[in-house]
Amino acid sequence: MASEISYDLIVIGAGPGGYVAAIRAAQLGMKVACVEKDRTLGVTCLNVGCIPSKALLESSELYAQAKDKLKDHGVQVQGLALDLKKCMERKDQVVAQLTGGVASLFKKNKIDHILGSGQLNADHSVTVRQNKEETILKAKHVLIATGSSPINIPDVTVDGKSIIDSTGALALSKVPQKMIVIGGGYIGLELGSVYQRWGSQVTVLEALDRIVPAMDLEVGKAFQRVLQKQGIEFQLSTKVKKATVKKDGTVEVAVEDASGKAATLSADVVLVAIGRKANTEGLGLDKAGVKTDERGRIQVNEKFETSLKGVYAIGDVIAGPMLAHKAMEEGVAIAENLAGQAGHVNYDAIPSVVYTWPEVASVGITEEQAKERKLEYKAFKFPFMAVGKAIAMGEKEGFVKLIADKKTDRLLGAHILGARASDMIAELVLALEFKASAEDIARTCHSHPTLSEGVKEAALGLGSGTIHL
Ligand code: NAI
Repeated sequence: MASEISYDLIVIGAGPGGYVAAIRAAQLGMKVACVEKDRTLGVTCLNVGCIPSKALLESSELYAQAKDKLKDHGVQVQGLALDLKKCMERKDQVVAQLTGGVASLFKKNKIDHILGSGQLNADHSVTVRQNKEETILKAKHVLIATGSSPINIPDVTVDGKSIIDSTGALALSKVPQKMIVIGGGYIGLELGSVYQRWGSQVTVLEALDRIVPAMDLEVGKAFQRVLQKQGIEFQLSTKVKKATVKKDGTVEVAVEDASGKAATLSADVVLVAIGRKANTEGLGLDKAGVKTDERGRIQVNEKFETSLKGVYAIGDVIAGPMLAHKAMEEGVAIAENLAGQAGHVNYDAIPSVVYTWPEVASVGITEEQAKERKLEYKAFKFPFMAVGKAIAMGEKEGFVKLIADKKTDRLLGAHILGARASDMIAELVLALEFKASAEDIARTCHSHPTLSEGVKEAALGLGSGTIHL
């Protein structure tokens, strides 16, 4: 059935990229529809990604504090017990509140949520299928923001019970005694931390010789040591060949090390977290004439235009870091471009955060990248051990590492391992955005006592010298 309505913009996918683009486009006066097959908006980020994982990270960190840290503050805890059902219910409430919030924003901005799967046609109309019904929607512009989904390993079949992906890890009904995590990246370390805090014996198997490969190497190594001290075991340079669920529900994992030596490990639950792939299946891209790259991501130019005129793509479905805030920035930029404004995303200033405890937050280039690019750079590390607030909080682990151009002093990269690094990185993102020098940061007055004094001291360390070290 052909739709009567003609929209200015149809967005396919209501994840953080899609829903933000829809809202900004509507605010800029466009008539917008958002095609989404899930009833709840927000998709991966809000339903089975960033938000529920952060809710569980918070709950599990509080449990770990009650178990191990509160006694240092003179708080005696007796009869400590985990109510996993309650944690999961709380997480579901958090998700419901936020997805409901996006639905209200759609209503407020008069955006039509069209329930169903969208498929693109060559005339850039969109066919929406829901149950057996088919509707064709027409618009001046179509934006594909269909996100990504977990990559699977052949011979490791996710069954949602013994072998799970990130979605399964957000809904376990029991804390496993032994958990194997395949992949030492964002998801593996965050969700591995959750279950380690709740008492699981967690082993991370990582194919490469380092965890979180994109992270500054020095920071990554220090991060691994911190997690090891908490009880997480790591087997690096270890490739998983096969996982078999046995009759008793435990899983046997066949691995091979860098020299080709084989071994077998066993666990109650195996979490597969080896990365994500762009969701392009069923979109009809080939037929419509939208080109993809060798990794199946939609090719776009700097204006997010695909090879088909009037069709655009943003977020995890195009190249770049698979991060919700990168997709959101792109969502705003594309809406502004379509409204005739100059939407822009500065890809050199996209922060990334691992929400373990302590956290790791980074922006800009790593020291390895500075070397690869043959830049003349200087780097300085200031430890939280020398920050008054960190000592008062009992959070002395970690450091702030800054990298700046040797000649111009311009900030090139910032990496923080420490408590609340996710909040502290914001000033360094702003510094990069404003092309600040290390001296600019060092001369900025930072409240005392705060953890962010570590940032100021690291900047001082790149110039006239630190005060507290
Ligand atoms: P990831 O790309 O962060 O890490 C995957 C890890 O698995 C890599 O270290 C890789 O070397 C390793 N690996 C790949 N194949 C392997 C194999 N066969 N055996 C053992 N190790 C293997 O991917 P992850 O953790 O699945 O997360 C996916 C994406 O989701 C991330 O890249 C990130 O963009 C996003 N994300 C972001 C979060 C945040 O911002 N805090 C949290 C969770 C996810």
